[in-house]
Amino acid sequence: MEHIGVGLIGTGYMGKCHTLAWANVRPVFGEGPATRLVHVAETSAELAAERAEALGFEKATGDWRQLIADPEVDVVSITTPNAFHPEMAIAALKAGKHVWCEKPMAPALADAEAMAKTARASGRVAILGYNYIQNPIIRHIGSLLDLGTIGPVNHIRLEMDEDFMASAKTPFSWKNEAAAGYGALDDFAVHPLSLITTLFGPLARVFAHMSKPYPDRPTFDGGRRTVENFDIASILFELASGIPGTLAVNRAAWGRKGRLAIQIFGSLGSILFDQERMNEVQLYTTTDECANQGFRTVLAAPPHAPYDRFVPAPGHGLGFNDLKTIECRELLNAIAGAPARVIDFDRGLQIEHAVHAMAASHEGQKWIEVGTP
Ligand SMILES: NC(=O)c1ccc[n+]([C@@H]2O[C@H](COP(=O)([O-])OP(=O)(O)OC[C@H]3O[C@@H](n4cnc5c(N)ncnc54)[C@H](O)[C@@H]3O)[C@@H](O)[C@H]2O)c1
Repeated sequence: MEHIGVGLIGTGYMGKCHTLAWANVRPVFGEGPATRLVHVAETSAELAAERAEALGFEKATGDWRQLIADPEVDVVSITTPNAFHPEMAIAALKAGKHVWCEKPMAPALADAEAMAKTARASGRVAILGYNYIQNPIIRHIGSLLDLGTIGPVNHIRLEMDEDFMASAKTPFSWKNEAAAGYGALDDFAVHPLSLITTLFGPLARVFAHMSKPYPDRPTFDGGRRTVENFDIASILFELASGIPGTLAVNRAAWGRKGRLAIQIFGSLGSILFDQERMNEVQLYTTTDECANQGFRTVLAAPPHAPYDRFVPAPGHGLGFNDLKTIECRELLNAIAGAPARVIDFDRGLQIEHAVHAMAASHEGQKWIEVGTP
């Protein structure tokens, strides 16, 4: 494939991020199909035209179904609110398009299952926006684990925190609606789950508790609306491999801006990572002589592929948007039939099963086995 035609549905935070990835993937990696930004869809024809002009797309529509019917579109980026993902992804796959859908798959498990089933039947590539697994430092952590650098792992702890819901004055948004899912579980927990399942494999069982700091929020028309889901979740889990762990997520955590922290403890050392300092990893190993034992900081550098594709100098660092460019590259690999580091709809469904088990655990106040797709 020499050219790939891109359709983009939704042009907010993630819509721009996908556009930058599509525009950068070929110059960064120096190979693969040339990208053509063909068609963009928004909630109205006017907004779509404005966004097409700003982002560099050729055509614009206020009806996403027109974009999906466009024969010049080969792949559809879906960056709309969660509730729209199932209908849009299923329609795109049925029209023969490849799909790059933002996480989570869908608020309802049955919809996520339908998405995975449709993807399987379509023969097209369908992946989810789990960009954090693409960080070269996360890949390096995977290599350290494979090499046994910290020995057998006995405990993992994860946290994901931001503060965009920390103020009681923050207005009600689509993220507070039950239609968007359980709240912090769909918004945040799925990301650490993408790391856990990539580095360690699937979860076996979970025990969860969810809460919200504010029962209602102001609306833009001067009223108040009840918050329909949860901003905070605390989870105990056990992996299928037997490793125990904890996960805490909070989108009302003042001062935390993009924390996705992971601590991995093994019999010969420990590994610490935090996405807020995404270009470094802390490594402690007992193989250092006793007097010099301590955490050492390893900075991202060209040996941590594909860092070298962005910058030849060690320690200069990548950014959040670069992770999406790597994800885009992996998507293109998958479309070309090459090995690809992606979370496709089947793997995404495993994550959805874990999320729904957590919600069921909160409801029933007991351990819940994580179902398998
Ligand atoms: N991977 C990540 O790191 C990450 C980060 C943030 C958000 N997300 C996910 O991305 C998705 C979008 O989140 P966001 O923060 O970009 O939201 P956003 O509100 O910034 O953008 C959503 C866009 O979709 C448009 N839209 C809504 N309904 C539409 C429709 N029917 N047709 C066409 N356009 C429509 C809106 O007008 C808006 O431009 C969510 O599923 C979210 O979970 C992923």
